[in-house]
Amino acid sequence: MKQQYDQILVTPKPFVKWAGGKRQLIPILNQNLPESFGTYYEPFLGGGALLFHILTDKNGQKCSISDLNSDLVLAYTTIRDRIDALITSLKNHEKNYQKDSESYYYSIRESNPRSEIEKTSRLIFLNKTCFNGLYRVNSKGKFNVPLGKYSNPNIVNEENIRAVSHILQSSRTAIKCRDFEAVLRDAKKGDLIYFDPPYQPVSTTSNLQAILPKISHMMI
Ligand SMILES: C[S@@+](CC[C@H](N)C(=O)[O-])C[C@H]1O[C@@H](n2cnc3c(N)ncnc32)[C@H](O)[C@@H]1O
Repeated sequence: MKQQYDQILVTPKPFVKWAGGKRQLIPILNQNLPESFGTYYEPFLGGGALLFHILTDKNGQKCSISDLNSDLVLAYTTIRDRIDALITSLKNHEKNYQKDSESYYYSIRESNPRSEIEKTSRLIFLNKTCFNGLYRVNSKGKFNVPLGKYSNPNIVNEENIRAVSHILQSSRTAIKCRDFEAVLRDAKKGDLIYFDPPYQPVSTTSNLQAILPKISHMMI
């Protein structure tokens, strides 16, 4: 098994394109990280750009990651626990998409799979092929982003999701679906919380920018 990983592992990076993703800002965020800290909390996980940087940089770092989007959180646990079946399912999407991208995209957008593997491969497939990698659902919770204009989208980035799976399995990372406020109850002195809330209010009563003015990370 070790030999297999040695051959395939690349540095893990976000496996989805996510609105507000911070991959481009990693050098700046890195400069502002404290030298040492206890548990790393990322309560607005999204694509987890800073998480993957920290897990790669700090071997053995204890992390607690969470997001309110249950489909996204399921994708993290499925990648960690069911990587082979997930890759098979994604390759199947890729094959069908290549035959007739438009009709296949809309058939999967309308589908409502039950299994964790199919739910996660649907999320990743739609993310790679939809307009701008947006995640948007209507009032009934149905994904409603149109097909994107990609000639050859990278639907199965096998090297990367295997690397993500490996680092989530081998690190001390708890993965939870929950509101960001729960983190404020869990974190202890010396822990680090990185807040990266959405830029638009998610409802008329939840303007996160008003709740967390100018805070990007916080040492307790
Ligand atoms: C700006 S994105 C985070 C981007 C992430 N830092 C990255 O690098 O990809 C904000 C995230 O907050 C999540 N979110 C929105 N409201 C939330 C809430 N009340 N509690 C926890 N997560 C929430 C969204 O689902 C979204 O994934």
